Amino acid sequence: MALVDLFPTTYYYAPLIKDARARARLVKEIRAEIPRIRDFDDAGRKWCEKNYPGGYTSYGSLSELHQFSSTFAELRAHIDDHVTRFALALEADLEQHTLGVTQMWANVMPQGVVHTGHLHPLSTISGTFYVDVPKASSGLKFEDPRLGLFMGSIPRKARTGPRSERYHVLRPTEGYVVLFESWLRHEVPPNPVRGERVSVSFNYNWF
Ligand code: NI
Repeated sequence: MALVDLFPTTYYYAPLIKDARARARLVKEIRAEIPRIRDFDDAGRKWCEKNYPGGYTSYGSLSELHQFSSTFAELRAHIDDHVTRFALALEADLEQHTLGVTQMWANVMPQGVVHTGHLHPLSTISGTFYVDVPKASSGLKFEDPRLGLFMGSIPRKARTGPRSERYHVLRPTEGYVVLFESWLRHEVPPNPVRGERVSVSFNYNWF
């Protein structure tokens, strides 16, 4: 008997820096910097009133944080390495093309704030670095990209392994980075806990 997996959907998840102390130090610096960005970013807070009710994101105003401060430049340098590793795992042709960051922005989700299902249509690889993940706060929910194609498909058991899930929820840890191809639809369900869930998201393109 042979079982062959075709067309897999792969995401990447790893600690940003292997050394736990160095990782905690960078998390701490970014955690201190994001509230300062939020205070400074009048245009961003205004943008969020309409586009991200109850939360804060610099996506609509300061979306190149890697150029904003040395802390974010350091974050970007680490993420570059992870993106290369992920691209190699996907068998991307890095001899013909390079991958480079185009956008990097901060997200703060207080209780009840949601980031509904979306993809990042103009990018190649997207991802998030986790800065503050209160216990029992929302995970990152991925959707099976074939969902609109299933006809007569047998319902799966309520509990399956990740290969048979129609949705997959990653429960991230502070200091970790997740990467996925930008066409993969994902969402962050409403944050059910009082603590603010804080992250930095980014897009990479191929050039
Ligand atoms: Ni996203």
